[in-house]
Order: sequence, then C-alpha cells, then structure tokens
Amino acid sequence: MGEKGSRHAALDAGCDTCHTTHKTGAEPTAENRFHLTKAAPALCVDCHDVKDSELQKKHNNQPFGTANCLQCHDPHQSDQPKLIVKFQHAPFQGNGCDTCHQPAKDGKVVLTQTDAKLLCVTCHEDKAKEIESAKVPHPGAAGDCTDCHNPHASSQPGLPKTDSVTICLGCHSDIEELQKKPAHHQPAFAQGCSTCHTPHGGENDHLLRAKGNALCLECHGPESQAQKDAANHLLTIFNGKVRLPEDYYQTNKVPILPLRYGLGHPVEYHPVSDVMDPTNQAKVKTPLSCLSCHQPHASSQAGLLVKDQANNMAFCDNCHKNRLNMKETVLPGK
Ligand code: HEC
Ligand code: HEC
Ligand code: HEC
Ligand code: HEC
Ligand code: HEC
Ligand code: HEC
Ligand code: HEC
Ligand code: HEC
Ligand code: HEC
Ligand code: HEC
Ligand code: HEC
Repeated sequence: MGEKGSRHAALDAGCDTCHTTHKTGAEPTAENRFHLTKAAPALCVDCHDVKDSELQKKHNNQPFGTANCLQCHDPHQSDQPKLIVKFQHAPFQGNGCDTCHQPAKDGKVVLTQTDAKLLCVTCHEDKAKEIESAKVPHPGAAGDCTDCHNPHASSQPGLPKTDSVTICLGCHSDIEELQKKPAHHQPAFAQGCSTCHTPHGGENDHLLRAKGNALCLECHGPESQAQKDAANHLLTIFNGKVRLPEDYYQTNKVPILPLRYGLGHPVEYHPVSDVMDPTNQAKVKTPLSCLSCHQPHASSQAGLLVKDQANNMAFCDNCHKNRLNMKETVLPGK
C-alpha cells in the first residue's frame, strides 16, 4: 500500500462478511466466480447507506447507489485513497464528474453529449478515425466505445469494461468455446486478447499485432523485447503498445526458445521459418511457422500443438513420414 493508499475497514469484520465457501453455481457470475454472499451493489449497500446525503455528494449526486460499485472501488485495498481502483481515466481523476455528466434526472445519468460515443469522440477523435480508417477494420469496434471501455476507471490498464478477456468473448463465441479446453495459452485467457490483436483495427490479417513468427517471438524469442515503464510499474511490448505487469516474465515463467538463425526448436537445428510447410496442401505454399505446429489460444493438452495433438512420433509424422530419417531423433521434453 502506497502513502496515499487505503484499506477497507470491512476486512476487520472477516473475509466471510462478503465471501462464502459454499457458492459454486455453474453460471460464471461474479458471485460464483469469487464466492460472494451476493453481488455488488447489494453486497455494499448492506453497510453503506446510499441515501446518505454526504455520501451522495461524494458521488456528485450521480445515481451511484444502483451502479456496480466495483467499476470504481476495490473491495479490499488500493494504492489510491477511498479504495479507488488503480487505473483512472484522466477526466475522472480529481472528481471531474462534470466533464461528462449533467445533474442526474429521475435516477438516471444525463451526459454532456447526446450519447456516450459522441462524448468520447470530443476528446478521442483520433481513435474514432483509427477505427474507421484501419486497413483491416474490426467490425466489433464500430459501435459504442463503451461496448469495451469503462468511462471511469478499472483495475487493468486500458479501462476494459469488465476485464480484458471477457470484453471480447461476448461477441466471439467460437473463442469462448475454446476456453472450455483445459490447456490455455496464458496471454489468451489471462493477460487479454489485445495482447496479440489490435482491438481498434490494424494492419495485419486477423488483426494481429505483428506478421508471422514475429508475433510469438515478441515473448518467446531469445532476446526479450520488453521495455521497462518504471513510473507505472509496468513492462511494455510491441513498441510500447501492450502493457504487462512488471513481474510478468517471472510470474508466468515465459518459455524462451533457444533459436539461432531461425533454427533450434523443437529439436536441435530444427527450422521454424524460411522453409516450406510440407503439411500445407494449398496451391500457394506457406512457409513453416509457429502456427504450422501450434494453436495460439488453447488445446485439450499441454504444448498447444495443432489439432490438439500430443507430442509424439505421430505428430512428427505429420511432416516427416517417408521424408527424413529421424531414427536418432529424440523428442523434445522426453
Ligand atoms: C467488503 C466485502 C469483502 C471483504 C470483507 C473481502 N472481500 Fe474478497 N472480494 C470481494 C469482492 C466484491 C470481490 C470480487 C472482485 C471483482 O469482482 O473484481 C472479491 C474478490 C476476492 C478475490 C479474488 C479476486 C482478487 O482480488 O484477487 C480474493 C482472492 C479475495 N476476494 C479474498 C479475500 C480475502 C482473503 C478476504 C479477507 C482478508 C476478503 N477477500 C475480504 C469482497 C470482499
Ligand atoms: C460489513 C460492512 C461493510 C460492507 C459489506 C462494505 N463496507 Fe465499505 N466500509 C465499511 C466500513 C466500516 C468502512 C469505514 C467507515 C466508512 O468510511 O464508512 C467502509 C469504508 C468504505 C470506503 C471508504 C474507504 C476510505 O478509505 O475512506 C469505501 C470506498 C467503501 N467502504 C466501499 C465499499 C464497497 C465498494 C463495498 C462492496 C464491495 C463495501 N464498501 C462493502 C463497511 C462495509
Ligand atoms: C463512478 C465511480 C463510482 C461508483 C460507481 C461508486 N463510487 Fe464510491 N466513490 C467514488 C469516488 C470518486 C469517491 C471519492 C470521492 C472523494 O475523493 O471525495 C467515492 C467515495 C466513496 C466512499 C467514501 C465516502 C467518504 O465519506 O469519503 C464510499 C463509502 C463509497 N464511495 C461507496 C460506494 C458504494 C457503496 C458504491 C456502490 C453502491 C459506490 N461507492 C459506487 C466513485 C464511485
Ligand atoms: C469521461 C466521461 C465521464 C466521467 C469523467 C465520469 N463519467 Fe460517469 N458515466 C459516463 C458515461 C459515458 C456513463 C454511461 C455508461 C454507459 O454507457 O453505460 C456514465 C455512467 C455513470 C453512472 C451510472 C453507472 C451505472 O452503471 O448505472 C454513475 C453512477 C456515474 N457515471 C458516476 C460518475 C461519477 C461519480 C463521476 C465522477 C467521480 C463520473 N461518473 C465521471 C462518463 C463519465
Ligand atoms: C474531456 C476529455 C475526455 C473525454 C470526454 C474522454 N476521454 Fe478518454 N482520455 C482522456 C485523456 C486526457 C486520456 C489520457 C491520455 C490518453 O491516453 O489519450 C484518456 C485516456 C483514455 C483511455 C486510455 C486509458 C489507458 O489506460 O491508456 C481510454 C481507453 C479512454 N480514454 C476511453 C474513453 C472513453 C470510452 C470515453 C467516452 C466514455 C472517453 N475516453 C472520454 C480524455 C477524455
Ligand atoms: C460488439 C461485438 C464485438 C466485440 C466486443 C469484439 N468483437 Fe471482434 N469482431 C466482431 C465482428 C462482428 C467481427 C467480424 C466477423 C468475424 O470475423 O467474426 C470481428 C472480428 C474480429 C477478428 C478478426 C477475425 C478474422 O477472422 O480475421 C478478431 C481477431 C477479433 N474480432 C478480435 C476481437 C478482440 C480481441 C476483441 C476484444 C478486444 C473483440 N474482437 C471484441 C465483433 C466484436
Ligand atoms: C472492441 C472493443 C473496443 C472498442 C469498441 C473500443 N476500444 Fe478502445 N481499446 C480496446 C482495448 C482492448 C484497448 C487496449 C487496452 C490495453 O490493453 O492497453 C483499447 C485501448 C484504447 C485507448 C488507449 C490507447 C490505445 O490505443 O491503446 C484509447 C484512448 C481507447 N481505446 C479509446 C477508445 C475510443 C474513444 C473508442 C470509441 C471510439 C474505443 N476505444 C472503442 C478495446 C476497444
Ligand atoms: C498469443 C497471441 C494471441 C492471443 C493472446 C489471442 N489470439 Fe486470437 N489469434 C491469434 C493468431 C495467431 C490467430 C490466427 C490463427 C490462424 O491464422 O490460424 C488468431 C485468430 C483469431 C480469430 C480469427 C480466427 C479464429 O480462430 O476464429 C479470432 C476471432 C480471435 N483470434 C480472437 C481472439 C480472442 C477473443 C482472444 C482472447 C480470448 C484472442 N484471440 C487472443 C493469436 C492470439
Ligand atoms: C505476451 C507474451 C506471449 C506471446 C506474444 C506469446 N506467448 Fe506463448 N506463452 C506465454 C506465456 C506467459 C506462456 C507460459 C504460460 C503457459 O503455459 O500458458 C506461454 C506458453 C506457450 C507455449 C507452451 C504451452 C504449454 O502448454 O506448455 C506455447 C507452445 C506457446 N506459448 C506458443 C506461442 C505461440 C505459437 C505464440 C504466437 C502465436 C505465442 N506463444 C505468443 C506468453 C506469450
Ligand atoms: C515443427 C513443429 C514446431 C514448430 C515449427 C514450432 N514448435 Fe514450439 N513446440 C513444438 C513441440 C513438439 C513442442 C513440445 C510440446 C510439448 O511439450 O508437449 C513445442 C514447445 C513449445 C513451447 C514450450 C517450450 C517449453 O520449453 O516449455 C513454446 C513456448 C513453443 N513451442 C513456442 C513456439 C514458437 C514461438 C514457435 C515459432 C517461432 C514454435 N514454437 C514453433 C513444435 C513446434
Ligand atoms: C509442420 C511440419 C513439421 C513437423 C510437425 C515437424 N517437422 Fe521436423 N522438419 C520440418 C521441415 C520443413 C524440416 C526441414 C526440411 C526438411 O528437411 O524436410 C524439418 C527438419 C527436421 C529435422 C532435421 C533438422 C536438421 O538437422 O536439419 C529433424 C531432426 C526434425 N525435423 C525432427 C522433427 C521432430 C522430432 C518432430 C516432432 C517433434 C518434427 N520434426 C516435426 C517440418 C516439420
């Protein structure tokens, strides 16, 4: 906790004031996921009188009593005063509610512009242009900015509305389906989809942040591409465009491949590029790449091999049947 930090006095009443050990419904609601006695705001309103005029004033007399308190407050502690979550939108800081809000009417918010998107675009015209004019557009970004963003604050950088995975899955049910597989690639289902994809549209197929193996080697290459952003306790990759926690590499044990001149994985001297992929039956052959052997999102087993395969001879045979004498080859990891 920093100098300005705050700690919730409710913690003194014990964790079971808000959490229960016996909440295990199948639905992925916040209550079930975090084993809560009930969800916010009901949970919070038990102890905080939202009709109290002092408390209302602290919220600029906006209808906070029916809002999800957790979009602005951390339930436990914070390095900010008043349990405010870590990442605050610049105009929200210092109680700048009036920049975007008029006085509430009939318990509903009234914005300073006719709708949320117009409001955002008054300051972020560049983003609206980026979305409209991208070489590879993302139809998912053409609607409201608040489809993905919280206008106030977030516990993650970039102000995702819920979290950096959930905001995408709502519209991408095929990828949501993949989440059911037991082996997840950390950046896809923990760090967030925009680690590899440009959410506002971009330059490359499938909205990828880099072409070919460069995407994967940003993290798995022998030279780390990460830069320190010491002021914000973050690391950045992809030229500063993606932010990671400062201990990302240690916490997640990112495997680094022993590649030299495009050779050295999955076995000594094995190429990962610059030769053709023999499995590719298309008229236009594609070069061997990480995606010749791996899936980027998930698999039913560790290793994330294509078609959910296990790491065995049959997998190598996809390309090597009748091709190469591999009798002396040792499988990686065996
Ligand atoms: C005032 C109510 C409250 C109390 C007291 C409380 N929690 Fe929580 N806790 C929450 C809420 C609400 C969430 C869900 C946060 C979210 O939706 O992002 C949560 C989430 C969590 C999580 C998962 C997400 C995370 O932040 O890591 C853990 C672990 C957790 N609580 C542990 C504890 C422990 C341990 C205690 C006792 C020291 C405690 N909580 C006391 C309300 C509370
Ligand atoms: C068991 C009772 C209880 C529950 C449940 C509870 N609080 Fe509190 N909360 C307190 C007490 C006690 C204080 C300290 C006195 C005060 O400021 O009212 C406090 C203080 C706060 C503060 C001010 C912190 C500061 O540093 O001044 C915030 C913000 C807050 N609570 C938000 C929440 C939110 C959000 C929830 C729901 C996730 C919640 N509370 C649930 C009892 C509770
Ligand atoms: C839109 C963001 C937002 C939402 C939603 C929100 N709050 Fe707050 N809350 C704030 C801000 C900002 C402050 C700090 C005001 C200040 O610095 O004086 C605050 C302050 C508080 C305080 C401390 C008041 C004091 O006396 O210092 C409490 C308690 C609190 N909120 C509880 C809640 C509860 C309970 C909910 C949900 C029912 C909630 N808040 C929803 C932004 C929010
Ligand atoms: C950058 C503009 C902006 C700022 C600054 C801002 N808000 Fe908002 N607020 C919005 C928008 C946009 C919405 C409607 C979100 C939506 O589309 O659901 C909103 C909604 C709300 C809601 C209703 C949320 C709900 O889920 O019911 C509350 C309460 C609120 N704001 C409180 C505040 C308070 C308090 C402050 C100042 C501490 C504040 N806002 C600052 C833009 C802003
Ligand atoms: C009054 C001007 C203003 C308005 C209105 C405004 N913003 Fe911002 N916003 C800023 C400033 C200033 C920053 C910080 C500098 C930057 O990153 O551009 C920022 C940053 C952001 C960020 C980046 C946060 C981060 O962690 O990098 C997002 C996302 C964002 N705004 C979304 C929105 C959305 C969505 C709306 C509409 C609900 C909105 N903004 C309305 C001024 C504004
Ligand atoms: C409001 C709905 C919506 C949201 C939210 C959304 N998308 Fe999309 N996305 C679409 C639509 C519609 C398409 C075009 C049809 C398709 O390819 O599925 C698309 C296309 C894509 C594509 C290109 C698919 C291809 O085959 O080339 C990617 C990648 C993508 N989205 C990633 C994301 C990511 C990452 C997020 C979260 C930051 C996200 N989407 C959030 C609706 C959405
Ligand atoms: C499909 C979801 C989606 C939509 C819709 C969307 N954004 Fe974003 N936006 C994101 C994600 C994801 C990030 C990256 C957050 C991160 O990881 O740093 C982002 C980042 C930002 C940033 C931080 C700078 C940057 O480019 O990384 C700003 C500012 C921003 N968005 C503004 C907007 C505005 C304004 C709109 C509406 C015109 C909008 N966004 C619509 C998902 C979206
Ligand atoms: C580690 C980087 C990475 C992350 C993180 C990532 N993706 Fe992808 N994604 C890719 C690559 C690479 C492709 C292209 C696959 C191909 O060409 O076969 C892709 C393809 C896609 C496609 C289009 C083709 C398809 O498979 O349906 C969608 C939609 C998509 N991703 C959405 C998402 C969503 C949603 C998330 C977050 C849950 C996410 N991605 C996270 C790397 C990533
Ligand atoms: C943001 C950094 C990042 C990027 C970019 C990234 N990865 Fe990863 N990758 C990780 C982390 C962290 C782990 C270790 C955690 C885990 O096992 O999921 C990992 C693990 C793996 C594993 C081992 C999984 C297992 O089950 O043992 C494979 C294979 C892999 N990545 C392939 C790829 C491919 C292919 C790409 C490009 C499409 C890629 N990675 C891009 C961070 C990244
Ligand atoms: C010719 C097939 C092939 C290619 C091409 C390939 N891999 Fe692999 N990779 C494998 C096999 C096989 C394993 C071992 C899987 C296991 O442990 O079950 C593996 C394992 C990994 C691991 C986990 C290593 C560890 O030490 O835990 C990572 C990370 C990885 N690959 C990333 C990549 C990246 C990034 C690329 C592109 C530069 C790539 N792979 C290209 C076949 C391949
Ligand atoms: C997606 C296709 C593909 C898969 C799967 C694959 N390889 Fe390869 N492998 C190649 C290509 C292409 C070459 C280089 C061209 C050639 O000689 O056929 C190569 C070359 C080799 C070489 C010779 C390296 C040297 O010294 O020049 C060995 C040994 C080898 N592979 C072993 C394996 C093993 C073991 C596996 C299973 C873990 C495997 N390969 C899986 C495509 C693949």
